[in-house]
Amino acid sequence: DKNTIVAPSLLAANFLEIGKEVEMVNRSEAGWLHLDVMDGQFVPNISFGIPVITAVKKLAKKVCDVHLMIEHPEQYAEAFKKAGADILTVHAEACVHLHRNIQQIKSLGMKAGVALNPHTPVQILENVISDIDVVLVMSVNPGFGGQSFIPQTLPKLRQLKALIQQHQSQALIEVDGGITVANAAEIVAAGADVLVAGNTVFSAPDPEAVIRQLRNAK
Ligand code: DX5
Ligand code: ZN
Repeated sequence: DKNTIVAPSLLAANFLEIGKEVEMVNRSEAGWLHLDVMDGQFVPNISFGIPVITAVKKLAKKVCDVHLMIEHPEQYAEAFKKAGADILTVHAEACVHLHRNIQQIKSLGMKAGVALNPHTPVQILENVISDIDVVLVMSVNPGFGGQSFIPQTLPKLRQLKALIQQHQSQALIEVDGGITVANAAEIVAAGADVLVAGNTVFSAPDPEAVIRQLRNAK
């Protein structure tokens, strides 16, 4: 079976050493680098934005996976493309015109992702699942790193997997929030292709070893 893609979330990195943290991810077995953008409106927190991603992109060797937790993401899609996003993920809850926003991201030359909050049913993706590259399933309420994994995510992942298969979609399932070395295997077994991990990676004494453990969890 194919290996899981690990996407360390830079939100949990030491921002005073951000270059060293990106270099650690470059050396590691991570597939993607996850970049969390928060606007203080869609979520009750503010993280970092376009200038930081532009700088990180100069050093990063991994796929830049930008998770927008912002309102009106369509107003910024072009700016995130210029900053270096390879994958741009918008929240379904923030998009009145989700179909249009997906087409916009793809026409700018990025892979398109759609994120779902914990309470948002997978069925809302039924009419776009064949158009998207990634579904990002939030396994905590977005806004903060270091929260606990919500167990209801596991049956939701199985529902999403069935929806993807039913529509013969190529979309990858990415899971974000509260992922640890201890729970990674059951999340992969439920259907995850991509594991985002913030604190589990960046708080570890040996982050590269943790990335390897997450990648091999099954
Ligand atoms: C939360 C972010 C996550 C966060 C995950 O709103 O979307 O990517 O960084 O952090 P951990 O892995 O610490 O739960
Ligand atoms: Zn995220």
